[in-house]
Amino acid sequence: MRSQILGTGSYAPSRILTNADLERMVATSDAWITERTGIRERRVVTPEEACSDLGVQAARQALAEAKIQASELDLILVATCTGDFPLPSTACVIQHRLGATQAAACDISAACCGFVYALAVADAYIKTGSRYVLVVGAEVMSAITDWEDRNTCVLFGDGAGAVVLGPSDGEAGILSLHLHADGRLADLICVPGGGSSMPISEKILAERLHYIKMRGNETFKVAVKTMEEAAREALAANGLTVEEIDVFIPHQANIRILKAVSQRLGLSFDRVAVNLDRFGNTSAASIPMMLDEVVRENRVKADSLILVAAFGAGLTWASGVIRW
Ligand code: ACO
Repeated sequence: MRSQILGTGSYAPSRILTNADLERMVATSDAWITERTGIRERRVVTPEEACSDLGVQAARQALAEAKIQASELDLILVATCTGDFPLPSTACVIQHRLGATQAAACDISAACCGFVYALAVADAYIKTGSRYVLVVGAEVMSAITDWEDRNTCVLFGDGAGAVVLGPSDGEAGILSLHLHADGRLADLICVPGGGSSMPISEKILAERLHYIKMRGNETFKVAVKTMEEAAREALAANGLTVEEIDVFIPHQANIRILKAVSQRLGLSFDRVAVNLDRFGNTSAASIPMMLDEVVRENRVKADSLILVAAFGAGLTWASGVIRW
């Protein structure tokens, strides 16, 4: 038995932060950001918006597309590293706001791979008898971005994507998902302060340790390698060649990473879905936001094969193949 995506949704805050805006905030230029990352603008929340606000909007759209009532959900999983609170989970906030009274709810923390990790948990739940699972990837990366650090502040954006998963009634559905992690590389991308290891204090705030730190160049190299390996693993597990893939939805981190991975795979770039120019790196939200766009633009039809691949802090990496 397979699980199948029954509906997709996405939401991005209306406030746009362009590269020109960033030129006024840090020593950078539109030319540098565009050339090195491919990002032209990103969305950021207003002070009134939190992670759950973005997630709820995406979830409502996915439920409407799936023609499923919130009360029919068995489980809500929210992939995020920027939830509303350290406690309780953002999934519980979303459960309440949707009125999903029968659903269990929890968050999943796997950074930019969070959505694929959550999808794998949801897939296992469906295969063991659950009817409907809501999987949300939602991030307010602007809350952990150091707006004085040009190395990182140009990269990230806020947004949310969601899918409703249910049992497949045919060949369509999730063919396989593959999850990996290597904690030895934890310090490549991290937010050092604010957890139990370094609780918030005036010192942590003064040293700006509650913001994301990243060794960008090393991350870049690992990202290309792990995404290629993960994509090949997903293809091999299903006996597929790269030519058979209709759309490749990679985690939207950097256009140069996407080009390098597609080139190594021998996949023509017109089959790679890209929205990072408009949204930047939205971490766990990037793949479901991109998927929703691909669906709404009718870039997939019945039987289309979608390859997904992600990497992120942890280090984590993941991939999968979905038959639409
Ligand atoms: N504007 C202008 N110059 C800059 C900027 C900026 N915004 N940022 C860095 N530079 C400078 C650096 O200071 C450096 O200057 P120097 O040569 O005088 O020392 C120079 O540009 C080159 O810096 P590099 O870091 O070598 O640049 P690189 O080509 O590697 O690009 C980037 C940096 C865009 C961060 C790239 O490494 C990257 O995309 N890495 C992957 C990041 C990623 O995908 N992270 C995803 C995980 S996020 C998560 O899991 C939540």
